Amino acid sequence: MSAARPLLLVGAGGLARECLAALAAVEEAGTASWTVLGLLDDDPARHGDLVDGTPVLGGSDLVHEHPDAAVLVCTASIRTPDSRPTIAGRLGLPDDRLATLVHPAASVARGTDVGAGSILLAGVVVTAPQRIGRFVVAMPQVLLTHDDEVHDGVTMAGRVALAGGVTVGRSAYLGAGALVRENLTVGELSVLGMGSVLLDDLPAGQTWVGSPARRLVRRPKAVAR
Ligand SMILES: CC(C)(COP(=O)(O)OP(=O)(O)OC[C@H]1O[C@@H](n2cnc3c(N)ncnc32)[C@H](O)[C@@H]1OP(=O)(O)O)[C@@H](O)C(=O)NCCC(=O)NCCS
Repeated sequence: MSAARPLLLVGAGGLARECLAALAAVEEAGTASWTVLGLLDDDPARHGDLVDGTPVLGGSDLVHEHPDAAVLVCTASIRTPDSRPTIAGRLGLPDDRLATLVHPAASVARGTDVGAGSILLAGVVVTAPQRIGRFVVAMPQVLLTHDDEVHDGVTMAGRVALAGGVTVGRSAYLGAGALVRENLTVGELSVLGMGSVLLDDLPAGQTWVGSPARRLVRRPKAVAR
């Protein structure tokens, strides 16, 4: 195997911890080799922390002080659903600096094209070759079936399942266990709540929840007197 490449992770939250564990599994399986230099986080309060034994070295701009290191952006939040492409764009990272992480316990159909910067965690199943966009995160046990199209920046929490022919638009967020019927479109920057069952196209930018999923209309909170 070629020499281990230095790697920096941007983000120091839960997904970063999961990526560190996946990187250890990758090392053990011998499917890739990285030397993790540390985590980068723009919250100064995190600098100097140890995350599962890995130090938070400083802010994300430190990527420029390690030009040979690959970079894995591991942020995921419903409030900033396009954080990964945005951070990578702000840092001006060319493709050859973007790490792509596929857990050895993921089952990815041969011929699948996984875009730069994407992260597929343990138990992800891709049943037939397809293109998965850049900066996609598929958390444990996500199921993608034939002819799905997952665009850049999409986040799928654990156990999301897409039936065949589903298109998921840029930076959509699908909550844990959400199910999507075949041939539907999930619009860009939309949110599908955890456990929801989507039976109609979900328009861009909207949040839908429930079974069958419907648009979430937030009611004004009662004011205590
Ligand atoms: C959809 C979601 C983003 C809404 O969050 P929110 O804006 O904070 O909404 P609230 O919790 O205030 O709920 C608003 C209403 O929607 C309902 N609701 C929220 N999420 C729901 C869901 N997944 N399914 C059904 N109803 C839901 C609430 O019961 C509430 O109903 P009410 O107004 O009748 O009381 C959130 O509930 C969700 O599903 N997040 C995904 C979590 C996840 O998968 N995390 C994975 C991390 S690894």
